[in-house]
Amino acid sequence: MRAADISDDISEVLLTEEQIHEKLAELAQQVVADYSGKDVVLVGVLKGAVMVMADFARHLPRHITMDWMAVSSYGASTRSSGVVQIRKDLDTDITGKHVLIVEDIIDSGLTLSWLLENFASRGAESVEVLALLRKPDAMKVEVACRYVGFDIPNDFVIGYGLDYAEKYRNLRDVAVLAPHVYS
Ligand code: PRP
Repeated sequence: MRAADISDDISEVLLTEEQIHEKLAELAQQVVADYSGKDVVLVGVLKGAVMVMADFARHLPRHITMDWMAVSSYGASTRSSGVVQIRKDLDTDITGKHVLIVEDIIDSGLTLSWLLENFASRGAESVEVLALLRKPDAMKVEVACRYVGFDIPNDFVIGYGLDYAEKYRNLRDVAVLAPHVYS
């Protein structure tokens, strides 16, 4: 789906498909250089990271393995505590592995902060983060993110994996959702 197909639902296109791919290719080059000679497990966080994972992984001219986690917060009241529930755990043992978590967006930072601690406690050799988007103005906790695609304003963004009520994930670009859609 392209932005033109849902123009009534969006205020502006923030990042085009081309800009996203260019950035992912750049990040892939950095990752290849940084992990030379090391085995890497890419861990995608469902569901938002599906598009980033699919495109980023294909920009890598080397072998990697892929695994997935699905997590969710317990609810609005506990979200601020950063406690998350594992809905789908990793299939692989990451003990002694170099893990690169792949995320679509860092909003408050709570999900990643919890995941980083959780992976470290499983004995991973290293754990780093690649996030396509980051909202500096929304962050509640500092998260060390080694690879960041774009810092964006604190707007309601959708597309390229990001949803509103489970829709818009298949939009090719990242766009700001028009307020009339959710208010
Ligand atoms: C989104 C996103 C991150 C998380 C970031 O997932 O994919 O995992 O929120 O938010 P935080 O920094 O405030 O913790 P969401 O819980 O919306 O699930 P989804 O990926 O299935 O859409």
